[in-house]
Amino acid sequence: MVGSPRLITVSNRLPVTVTSTREGFVLHQSAGGLATGMRGPHEQLEGIWIGWPGDVSRIEASRRGELTAALAQRSLVPVMMSRDEQQVFYEDISNAVLWPICHDRLDQLPLHVEGWDVYERINRRYADAVVERYRPGDLIWVHDYQLFRLPALLRERLPHARIGFFLHVPFPNPEIFFALPTRRWLVEGVMGADVVGFHTRRWRGHFTAVLRRLFRLEMDADSTVAWQGRRVALGIFPMGVDAAELSRRAGAQEVSAARLELHAGISKLLVGIDRLDYSKGIPRRLLSFERLLRLHPEWRERVTLIQVAVPSRGNVNAYRKARSEVDALVGRINGDLSTPTWSPIRYLYRSVPQTTLLALYRAADVMLVTPVRDGMNLVCKEFVASRVDEDGVLVLSEFAGAADELTDALLVNPYDVDEVADVVHQALTMAGAERRRHMRALRSQVITHDVHLWAERFIAALQDQHAAAPRREKVSEN
Ligand code: ADP
Ligand code: F6P
Repeated sequence: MVGSPRLITVSNRLPVTVTSTREGFVLHQSAGGLATGMRGPHEQLEGIWIGWPGDVSRIEASRRGELTAALAQRSLVPVMMSRDEQQVFYEDISNAVLWPICHDRLDQLPLHVEGWDVYERINRRYADAVVERYRPGDLIWVHDYQLFRLPALLRERLPHARIGFFLHVPFPNPEIFFALPTRRWLVEGVMGADVVGFHTRRWRGHFTAVLRRLFRLEMDADSTVAWQGRRVALGIFPMGVDAAELSRRAGAQEVSAARLELHAGISKLLVGIDRLDYSKGIPRRLLSFERLLRLHPEWRERVTLIQVAVPSRGNVNAYRKARSEVDALVGRINGDLSTPTWSPIRYLYRSVPQTTLLALYRAADVMLVTPVRDGMNLVCKEFVASRVDEDGVLVLSEFAGAADELTDALLVNPYDVDEVADVVHQALTMAGAERRRHMRALRSQVITHDVHLWAERFIAALQDQHAAAPRREKVSEN
């Protein structure tokens, strides 16, 4: 984009992750909504992206320069962590404390939490990387809960910079957030930004409730809050997907061929695609499918569920437990209900190439997206964008941020195993005209509210907020 400001994207994970091999290393695409979603805006705005390339501890020190050069070719800047730092920053604090808090799982908290000093240290390392590359006029866009402290650390060192922060996960209810001894310090970190973005009105509502209770601050009618001589805008920006690109790729010949292969010998296909995370509701989804097969035996040997679970955060205990639970349920249900010629569940615990992902979206008679808590969920939007045939039914959890927008999906309470089974039956028996009516409405929403619009709206808000700053600096301090 000629004349556009340069964008510095900062997120914990880069859009590519490195794996060490005998020859050195390979780079592969990172899974996760943030990595997939920001790829387009990063390329369009010709910016740089600062983040962690994954565990480099097994890559020889002599090859690290090669890694940095390979990343630089894609305008990516690595922030390295030692194995010990990764354990405390990424596993213990980010994913064993902040992730469960943001997903309403107080029960997952360890009894004693240690490591906030390391969380701060790594956030400072990200700040160093940004400051080193910052040029006046750049826009800095910080992403997600791993970097809650970063906006304030940047504000100290770049007082006039344009800094945005976007939260990709839910912001929890204050009753849950207040369990964190560091609650004040984390919110102070976020408030270093000029614009703080959330996917939904509900997550922003939780955040304003926290501001009220911790600092006695109210959000004004223009959605800004006075903070240390500045105004901080709190915006709602529901993230989308690259719908045009997905539609184009999903229509490709190789995807159509892979779709036909998936359907061979199966009359009806249910599909689930998730990172293996306890927030995604996979065990209850499996139980709902079992319930369907028991209530409606006529579906046996006619319906198959393909569940892809992308390995995630395997060093965190709760994720190991989630994996064992899913393994055990798949084994039991298949053991109980399989026949010599059919198994109800095909379970893939691995990452799949994009052609397979798109073929699965295209092949699904019913897509099951049933998280028990999800900030947004992009898988459901990718499914809709891929359905160039305007067919297929989306069963979507009301606990996903996406449910606020995708009201033409069949919305379910993922905790209600019986209800989900009934709705899946309804989806499987829905008439073609009805399916297409729902899918057309879903597509119109997903196509008009894509990831580019999301990024443009956030960036425009950041530019506006900053342009208004001199006038607003007169507003009284808190
Ligand atoms: P989360 O960010 O919690 O993982 P989302 O549903 O928002 O959940 O995003 C998941 C993203 O991960 C989607 O963009 C999806 O395409 C991507 N993804 C899923 N499976 C794979 C895979 N095998 N390889 C790469 N990306 C994947
Ligand atoms: O979208 C939420 C998120 O936590 C992102 O921040 C992250 O990139 C993604 O899920 C995947 O998680 P991880 O980076 O821990 O593999």
